[in-house]
Order: sequence, then structure tokens, then C-alpha cells
Amino acid sequence: MLRIYLDYNASTPIDPAVAAVMKPFLAEDFGNPSSGHWAAAPAKAALEKARGQIAALLGCEDDEIVFTSGGSEANNLALKGIYFARRGSGDHIITTRVEHPAITEPCRFLESMGARITYLPVDRSGRVDPDDLNRVITSRTILISIMHANNEVGTIQPIAECARIAREHGVLFHTDAAQSVGKIATDVNQLGVDLLSIAGHKLYAPKGVGALFVRRGVTLEPLLHGAGHESGRRAGTESALLAAGLGKACELARDMAPMDRVQVLRDHFWRELQERFGNRIALNGHPAHRLPNTLNVSFINCIGAEILKGLDGVAASTGSACHAGRIELSPVLEAMGITREVGMGAIRFSLGRGTTREEIDVVVEQLNGLPTTAFMTLSASNPSK
Ligand SMILES: Cc1ncc(COP(=O)(O)O)c(C=O)c1O
Repeated sequence: MLRIYLDYNASTPIDPAVAAVMKPFLAEDFGNPSSGHWAAAPAKAALEKARGQIAALLGCEDDEIVFTSGGSEANNLALKGIYFARRGSGDHIITTRVEHPAITEPCRFLESMGARITYLPVDRSGRVDPDDLNRVITSRTILISIMHANNEVGTIQPIAECARIAREHGVLFHTDAAQSVGKIATDVNQLGVDLLSIAGHKLYAPKGVGALFVRRGVTLEPLLHGAGHESGRRAGTESALLAAGLGKACELARDMAPMDRVQVLRDHFWRELQERFGNRIALNGHPAHRLPNTLNVSFINCIGAEILKGLDGVAASTGSACHAGRIELSPVLEAMGITREVGMGAIRFSLGRGTTREEIDVVVEQLNGLPTTAFMTLSASNPSK
């Protein structure tokens, strides 16, 4: 069976070099990194090496890295941790309308706890306007959280500019970098952020591990209380197995050359599609400020899921989801002001280190050869199904 994986924004395979460094922790190196005897030494050393590898990728200090179970936990720790630590001095959080649910859902929870949340709008390309941010900051604002790059369309936000505005107002700034780490530069000092979230499985490390960068001097309330792991910021015996994997993945991610190759393939893909489909397709996301691996393309007046169904062995995502029997436009495309006619036909192709030119050419030919029934128009579909 043909298998072409073009869903790297959903998850990446574990890099063989990452798997190799994890192996001893599935066997002989089982000790608890907090113990004081010989059995702890390899685990403790691996944990601290990994912390250093992550810090090197982000350009921060080792003690500014807190291990988490993934991007969702890192985001929850940033939002709830800051809210509960600072609610005495304010109750207002600013975010955007295009965040991942790992931001919007904790925000909804915090709203139920008394927080006030402002959701910044985005333009047609999915970008926020820093002037809008400047306008909505108040003396009650305690945190601004704006994603670095969007998971659906790949649009990169003007983080450095927004973080500078936050700093001028004395407000902490968090960015969800789950999609950007390993694809574009994510130096925390160049970005000027106070908190930054990483998700291991988006950068060739395993699922179930991530990290939160917390700038020195920023205190947050832990989500998990217990023994004093992670300098009191996240209780629970650390997994040297997962940490070692994330550390190695971050070391590998410092080499951006594979992403240059991926961008060339992504642009080739888009050109080929344009040649065949002309004005029957549209690009979603910013043409330039966009992740190098992401191609979100709309087949206008069609249904993305129907087109994907017609492709043989191609793993990719659509921009719409079926909720309660009705196909709905994704909130991200909706926030970008994309019409149903364009948005319902969106397919997200996300490329990665393993993608080849041959694979792209096969997908282009498959799309080109689809029967017209695969391009079922929206008006011909039954919206109640
Ligand atoms: C932008 C963004 N943030 C957060 C997450 C959640 O990360 P995790 O799956 O590691 O919890 C994802 C995963 O899809 C994501 O794309």
C-alpha cells in the first residue's frame, strides 16, 4: 500500500538518533534522577544534558527549562501558572483568535475563575496587528499569549514586535512555539519572550514530552504540587527516557539545513498545483511569513475531506471538521475571514525531513487525476450530513 505522510504538523516520526539515546533508559539506566546513589547518576546526567540541549536551541539558561508532558501542559502551566501567581495584581489576559485549543481552553477555564480574556483579531493572512495589541493592554493585564506559528496555515506572528510592546507595559509575554521550534529560529532573547512552549512530538522527539521556558525571575504557581522536582515548578519524577529524547531532538534541530530543503519542496508543490488548478485553488496563510513546511491550500467551492478521501495513501489534514453531523469551518480559517466557499475546501499539507520530491509529484498527479466527483461542490453536498 502506498503511504505518503504529509501531516508533520500533526506529529513527526521519532528520529533514529533520538530513539538511540533513549534506549538505555528502557533497560539498565532505570534509576530515579533524584536519588543520591549510583543508580541515579545516568538518569540525572541525561536529564541535565537534555536541559542544556534545549536551552542551547532556545538561547537561554539551563535552569530556565521546565520539563512537561508536552505542548498542552506547557501552555497550561504558562497560563494558569502566571494567572494564579499574579491574580493579586491583575486579571486580564490577551491572546488571539487563532490559537490552538491548548491555549483557548485554559483561557476559557480561567474565565470561569474570574479572568478577563481579550482575543485579538487577525488579518486575512492570519497575522495580528501589534497596534491592536498596544490598544487593548490595560493596567490589569498580567499576561499576553500569542502563538509563534499557526498549526493550520503556518502563519508566523510578529512576536518580537508584540513582546517589545508587552515589555514597554511591564506585562509578561508567552508564546506557544509548538509548531515553530525546529522549523524556524526560536531564540528567546531575539524574540524577547518571558515564556515559550515546546512540544516534543512536533520535532522528531516522542509524544508525552515537552518543555516550558520560564525566564529567570518569573515565578508561577505549579499545576502539579508534590516533591520539589523541576525547582518546584512541576512535581513528579522526571523521565530521563523522554527528556533525553527531547534533548537530542533539540540538538538536531539546531541544523536548519533540512528545513531549507523542505521549503524548496513545499514551494515546488505549490507551483505544480497552481499550474494544474490555476484559479480553482487559493493559498491560506501568509505568503512569506509562514512556516517553511506548511502548505494550506483551498480547492474553491469543494470539500477538502472529499478530495482527501479520493487520494490513495496520502496522510494530510483538512481545514474543516465534522461537528454534530455538520461540516464546520475551522475557527482559525473563520477568524481569518475566509468564506465557507474557500475554507471548506482547505487541505493542510505539512512536509518534513522525510518528504521526497517523488512523493510530492505523486500527490500532484493523484490530485490532477481525481474524477470530477471528488471535487464535489459545496452546493451539491448535503449540509446536514
Ligand atoms: C500550536 C500548538 N500548540 C499546542 C499543541 C499541543 O501540543 P501537545 O500535543 O504536545 O500537547 C499543538 C499540537 O497540535 C499545536 O499545534
